[in-house]
Amino acid sequence: MSEMETKYWNVQDEKIDVNNSKIIAAAEAIRRQETVAFPTETVYGLGADATSHSAVDKIFQAKGRPGDNPLIVHIAKIEQVEQVVEDIPDMALKLMEAFWPGPLTLILNSNGASADNVTAGLSTVGVRIPDHPVAQAMLTASQVPVAAPSANRSGRPSPTTAQHVYDDLAGRVYGIVDCGPTGVGVESTVVDCTGEQAVILRPGGVTKEELEQVVETVSTDSAVENKEEQPKSPGMKYTHYAPNAPFWLVEGSADAMQQEINRLNQDGLNVGVMASEENAAHYQHAIVKSCGSRENLREVAQQIYDVLRTFNRENVDVILGETFTKKGLGVAVMNRLEKASSKIIKI
Ligand code: TXA
Ligand code: MG
Repeated sequence: MSEMETKYWNVQDEKIDVNNSKIIAAAEAIRRQETVAFPTETVYGLGADATSHSAVDKIFQAKGRPGDNPLIVHIAKIEQVEQVVEDIPDMALKLMEAFWPGPLTLILNSNGASADNVTAGLSTVGVRIPDHPVAQAMLTASQVPVAAPSANRSGRPSPTTAQHVYDDLAGRVYGIVDCGPTGVGVESTVVDCTGEQAVILRPGGVTKEELEQVVETVSTDSAVENKEEQPKSPGMKYTHYAPNAPFWLVEGSADAMQQEINRLNQDGLNVGVMASEENAAHYQHAIVKSCGSRENLREVAQQIYDVLRTFNRENVDVILGETFTKKGLGVAVMNRLEKASSKIIKI
């Protein structure tokens, strides 16, 4: 694609509302069918007018994203759902009222208003209201539903800072709105509401336990756990979130991790370790980065993508990662780490 000069709007120290001149400029760019990266509470998204095929096509071009992977449509208010969705089942209404704005995407029957490259030709569409003042103001000012995948080059870790977006997409998108690091750090939970029961297609910022407090039965698409199966969420089948060096998960004690470091050192390899705060100080002969405490999975979720990316600036041949509990937010954290990894070592 032809390169352009990407505009950079830093709004970190500004009042964020629909009167902010940078927010207005970003929203106007969306209205003119340009692509703009902006922060949500989960990760930065790369937005374009969801009703325009040519605008949405620019997202796919910029990211190098496969065309069979549908995008999430972002809106500002619950009333706007009807602009893109055919009918709203009771269960979906309950989930919207409980979790929007927030890190929950609902898959509903499309009314056809979204461009067909948004839904990748499916009869359903993913919708969410993000819980971030910049996203809210931009969506309100642009007055159109905005299709937005995570604003990374396809296959790389999702961006949790504007710098991550810049590193991946400078020259390939019209603009970037910088409002500092995002809070949740992993993407939204994707829940299919088109059947009898709610089905989690991608674990994320809202946990299964939280969903179960609102709707009776929540199941998880079997493809989330089983890599062999064809997932219902098309995006789940691709390699994702990967840093430059191979990333291997090590399931075992801190001693087992140290043995693995030693073994790789003997082979002449420089080793990086993504460690919990509890173990980080114990490892030797490796470049060690902490991604937060085992006792605080919110912190871990917020930091994993940034830590994976910082290893790209280190001279490492392989990155080893600790594993975390698969409970609560740990389900989303481990889903992303497993997808980023090319190997899981059990010691
Ligand atoms: O937190 C998030 O969800 C972020 C922010 C920017 O909102 N967005 C995001 O988008 O993670 P993306 O494109 O990276 O991931 C969207 C996921 C993919 O796994 C995609 O396959 C799935 O949602 N998806 C979208 N529409 C779908 C549909 N109609 N049916 C099934 N899965 C769908
Ligand atoms: Mg993504």
